[in-house]
Amino acid sequence: MSTPVPSWDPLSEAALADQLGTFDRMRSACPVAASPRGVSLLRHADVVAAANDPVRFSSVTSPRRSVPNSIDPPEHTGWRALIDPFFSAERMAQLEPRVREIAEGIVEVLPRRATIDAVADIGRPLAVRAQTDWLGWQGTEERLLAWMAENHAATRSGDRGWTAAVAAAFDEVVRAQVDRRRRLGDAAPDDPTTELVGATHAGRPLADDEITSVLRNWTAGDLGSVAAALGVVVHFLATHPEVQRDLRRDPAPLAPAVDEMLRIDDPFLGNRRRTTEAVRIGDHEVPAGTRVYLNWTSANRDEAVFGDPDAYRPEENASHNLVYGAGVHVCPGRPLATMELVVATSSLLAATTGIELAPDAQPVRETHPVGGWRGVPIHLR
Ligand code: HEM
Repeated sequence: MSTPVPSWDPLSEAALADQLGTFDRMRSACPVAASPRGVSLLRHADVVAAANDPVRFSSVTSPRRSVPNSIDPPEHTGWRALIDPFFSAERMAQLEPRVREIAEGIVEVLPRRATIDAVADIGRPLAVRAQTDWLGWQGTEERLLAWMAENHAATRSGDRGWTAAVAAAFDEVVRAQVDRRRRLGDAAPDDPTTELVGATHAGRPLADDEITSVLRNWTAGDLGSVAAALGVVVHFLATHPEVQRDLRRDPAPLAPAVDEMLRIDDPFLGNRRRTTEAVRIGDHEVPAGTRVYLNWTSANRDEAVFGDPDAYRPEENASHNLVYGAGVHVCPGRPLATMELVVATSSLLAATTGIELAPDAQPVRETHPVGGWRGVPIHLR
């Protein structure tokens, strides 16, 4: 017996007014829910099962090819073999002192005992400067910040024409970087962009649109998520003084701590798949060709796995944490994101004696296509 998938409107004003609460309520009431955009999976078990089944839940969700995000195995495997080494532990260790310098520079000039915004004044500058420094794109910071804001607005609008125009504008920024390296030849700077221009896949050089696509996914993945993630981390520290105190005394467990703060309030909402055949999810039969959303934010708060979703338990919850996804498309940039977040947080803790919510302003939630906080007004001591 199959029952029809219940419907919901995840973009209604009421749903967006309390996105996390809506996910929590939906997950217990109807964990598989359909909207005109597709079917959302809200439960941990359903999301993990779909993420681990790339044959029936394909990542080819639109005609636009995106490397490696929209490619299924077996071709996907070769792309990941090319991409993953860019994020090796050795490379991250080499990069860390530069990221620390950037983070310390940002924190140093922040006023004390005055209201600042953790997202606009720490998260975004850190994400953009660390990103441009890593890729060798110095000078593009302002354009990337403007692009990030417009990209969110376009995605939120659901206007495909606008989304495509924003993607095209970004491709221009990337193409200029690629062209510069081709022009410079042997004199090109020694950075990951140059390395990608010279890389091969399946025994041939990468086409320009493939290089652009890889770089777009790195940049899009990094900028928005790292900036939003830092907002979540700083808000958590400001509202959990005992955790802040412990991490000030001993910052060694910062990486699992940050992962757990992001599990509780995951700013990276979800990813799309398309069913290649009819699949049964719970009591429901989902037809072939259905667009499916894996809702990481909801899955990361599933009471069936985590108990009280707001309870901070870094060690116990680590193995079920889905902030960086699961399955073959699991985030290759996780080591970079974690390093940036840990370095930024430890720099902030080291340069201050206290982080508190500002007494004169309220934090503001972010909404679809991302989660977490739009603004976190804080005071530093
Ligand atoms: C806090 C920061 C980040 C979060 C929360 C995050 C989250 C995720 C998640 C959930 C996925 C799975 C997508 C899926 O299953 O379809 C993913 C994939 C991906 N991420 Fe991240 N990410 C972050 C940072 C980064 C960074 C720093 C980069 C690169 C510079 C990056 C590049 C990518 C790419 C290329 C993929 C696609 C992988 C594939 O399709 O095989 N991400 N990310």
